[in-house]
Amino acid sequence: MDEFDRIDRSGSNAEKYVLREKLFGTDRVQPMWVADMDIATPKCVLEAVFERLKHPVIGYEIMSDRAYEAQIMWMHTHHAFEIQREWLTFSPSVVASIGCAIRAFSDVDDEVIVMSPVYPPFFSQVKENNRRLISHSLQLDNTGEYHFDIDVLRSKITSKTKILLLCSPHNPIGKVWRDDELLSLGALCLEYGIVIVSDEVHCDIVYEEHTHIPIASLTNELCECSVTLLGTGKTFNMAGFSISTVCIASEALRKKYKKELDKVHFGEGSVLSHIAFEAAYRDGGTWYGKLMSHLHANRDKIVQWSRRNTIIRVTPPQGTYLAWMDCRALGLGDKELREFFIHEAGLGLSPGLSFGREGSGFMRLNFAVAPYVLEDALEKISNALRGRGYD
Ligand SMILES: Cc1ncc(COP(=O)(O)O)c(C=O)c1O
Repeated sequence: MDEFDRIDRSGSNAEKYVLREKLFGTDRVQPMWVADMDIATPKCVLEAVFERLKHPVIGYEIMSDRAYEAQIMWMHTHHAFEIQREWLTFSPSVVASIGCAIRAFSDVDDEVIVMSPVYPPFFSQVKENNRRLISHSLQLDNTGEYHFDIDVLRSKITSKTKILLLCSPHNPIGKVWRDDELLSLGALCLEYGIVIVSDEVHCDIVYEEHTHIPIASLTNELCECSVTLLGTGKTFNMAGFSISTVCIASEALRKKYKKELDKVHFGEGSVLSHIAFEAAYRDGGTWYGKLMSHLHANRDKIVQWSRRNTIIRVTPPQGTYLAWMDCRALGLGDKELREFFIHEAGLGLSPGLSFGREGSGFMRLNFAVAPYVLEDALEKISNALRGRGYD
């Protein structure tokens, strides 16, 4: 069987499948929503875990230096980001780290900037921690690319603005931020003493001429004011291991973060996750290369499909395995659009509106599936469109 062939996830409690009835009102949809892949986790990861299970004690364990070193080496090789061991701490979840960082670097009623549309926990973590949201609308140009407006951003900053929550690469729009964009955001944050919390969990899924640049790797000043969230969840399809890291170079920021961390007691997580994490970064390079060819081919399929079909527009994602489908020309309200995909196309996608009001009229499709599953999904959309009189 091809390593990237369809994986039957029935018999597991995969969210993507078991929540269909609840989310879409039917389990008769092909689920292409939550951001994990219908692709097997690499063998090197599974084998390392099997090997560890030969030891009969699964007690409290700390994450080994070897595991951190494997991540440091990966970030050096793939992103030219030179991380020091003491900058890194374990986290069971990137979203939990966002919450922790918000509490560590701001007070109740302080302001946090997010750029919308964006991954929904960016909004909810700010609100649930009783901070105020400064939402900046990214502007779509006529080539389908999104941009921020630095002057508008600047005009929103007050003495209470403490954090910029950056999504890099940006889910759901698939944007890989360029160095000039990051430098301009970074200069603004440095000018106003704003801490940059950069969620870079999608950093390895980047296509062609685009290069992911960790914002903390750009200059020493940016390194000192940034908190970078990294992990194996997306790259190696191992979200279920609940492991990631928080990278903070500044000793002062690290102290504040640690104080907050002590309150939540994340502990050190599971030994099986430590083993999986180390194996992925140490031995997963070849698998990762093949994964990128697979995702690249799928991405091209969607883009070609969208060129043939003029009513739904998909700008080639620069990063992530998520296609941001502009369905506004269909002229449907968001509820109707969702119903159209569920009942007429038989697909369970993420509604654009869940990523902020700027996502109205869009749908997000997860294309990390076998090629024929994707072809079938695109065919279903084409047929549903034909049913409505579009060619
Ligand atoms: C940008 C981004 N951050 C974080 C996460 C989730 O990370 P975790 O499961 O480690 O909380 C996702 C998952 O889709 C994501 O897209």
